[in-house]
Amino acid sequence: MQQAVRIAPSILAADFSRLGEEIRAVEAGGADYIHIDVMDGHFVPNLTIGAGVVKALRPHTALPFDVHLMISPVDAFVAGFAEAGANIITVHPEAGPHVHRTVQLIRSLGCKPGLALNPGTPAEVVDNLIDSIDLILVMSVNPGFGGQSFIDSQLAKIGAIRRKIDASGRAIDLEVDGGITTKTAPSVIAAGADVLVAGTATFTGGAAQYGRNIAALRSGR
Ligand code: DX5
Ligand code: ZN
Repeated sequence: MQQAVRIAPSILAADFSRLGEEIRAVEAGGADYIHIDVMDGHFVPNLTIGAGVVKALRPHTALPFDVHLMISPVDAFVAGFAEAGANIITVHPEAGPHVHRTVQLIRSLGCKPGLALNPGTPAEVVDNLIDSIDLILVMSVNPGFGGQSFIDSQLAKIGAIRRKIDASGRAIDLEVDGGITTKTAPSVIAAGADVLVAGTATFTGGAAQYGRNIAALRSGR
């Protein structure tokens, strides 16, 4: 069942020189998760941060850390992020030879496993994993960069995955990541998403504006 809409600001769009402050500001503004994009310069054409930064940020908020790993091969890095304080660890099925084993590894470390689908990855990839995961992330841009435009063809996939989650009877978050704005959020929510990742749309206008930005995305207005 689709749950209340939650907002996960992506710190990729925050001021990297003041990440602790930025996280505290979005928590004060009503954020639900902190979305952390980890990129390796190989699986995606960009480099961001590692587990050391996640660990340093952990004391700055009580919100769940929603860690999106864009790393290949991914398995060797999972434990480091769990130890650094990740709550949800999301991986791409293309990021290792045995995604089911990766999901089991994440669970064994006490974190919630998530599965991320690139725009070109079909919805059916969740079928044999749906009993084992707590979050499905539909990428509505190709991963690697913030500030890209929403790919409309992903709306049908969000709807298809909503039906699969409801048929499973499990409480699985349906998260959408990339190009979320006040213009695109209403159709994403209508298609069945219940967690919206928003980098650019959250971290705009200065910290005093973050609460209004988050509320606008959540209400779909
Ligand atoms: C892209 C990342 C996204 C990105 C979203 O690879 O997974 O989380 O930060 O950025 P916006 O919200 O600016 O499209
Ligand atoms: Zn992401």
